[in-house]
Amino acid sequence: MKDNVVNNDFKDVVFNRQSVRKFDPTVKITHEEFTKMIEETTSAPSACNLQAWHFVIVDTPEGKEKLKSYFMKFNLPQVETCSAMVLLFGDTEAYKSYRDLWTKAYHNGQIDKAKLDEVFNTFLPLYESANYETLVMDATVDTTLAAMQFMLIARSHGYETNPIGGYNTKKAAEIWGLDSKRFIPVMAIAIGKREAGAKPEVKSVRYPVEQVYQFA
Ligand SMILES: Cc1cc2nc3c(=O)[nH]c(=O)nc-3n(C[C@H](O)[C@H](O)[C@H](O)COP(=O)(O)O)c2cc1C
Repeated sequence: MKDNVVNNDFKDVVFNRQSVRKFDPTVKITHEEFTKMIEETTSAPSACNLQAWHFVIVDTPEGKEKLKSYFMKFNLPQVETCSAMVLLFGDTEAYKSYRDLWTKAYHNGQIDKAKLDEVFNTFLPLYESANYETLVMDATVDTTLAAMQFMLIARSHGYETNPIGGYNTKKAAEIWGLDSKRFIPVMAIAIGKREAGAKPEVKSVRYPVEQVYQFA
């Protein structure tokens, strides 16, 4: 697969990330590049390597009409101009694929039998016996890390993003034919290129660092 990384400058990728809310609507991102970006995104860490995330990439006019039906009004400029809206869901049933993932890793020689036994006897039972709220929380944490990873990966591919939580979460899964008990909406991320000649966004302010940390 072609390597689409165009920006390998860590400082620029991380510290010049800003929420962009108006994109160049003519910019298309190929499905091949999305596949690569999602693959890169899934290098994010997750609890017990559960990888409890699921992505829906909306890049068609019909899909955008559906977004408009449940996104808040103030997010419509992003919906209308982005190259795509990536919807991130936590998958509360990810643990059901867990056995296969680790068995394959064992057969491929990536882990030894002791690790396989640890996974089956320690981690897997935790999830198989977990209550729904715990599964939702774990899936939300995993998917939030994937969201941040995706926004930085996007920048390394030359795109800008805006994370979005302003939509009707009750409709978020069902509208895409997903089981709303299994798939928990975590956030949406608009992706595209900043509109040429657009005014730069106002840099968002942060609390003074002294206010947000302590040593212990
Ligand atoms: C979970 C989450 C939900 C957000 N929801 C929205 C939203 O609905 N609409 C919007 O314009 N920005 C949204 N934002 C973007 C924040 O306003 C933005 O990240 C924050 O002001 C900091 O600015 P920066 O991203 O430019 O650093 C959201 C961000 C996060 C992390």
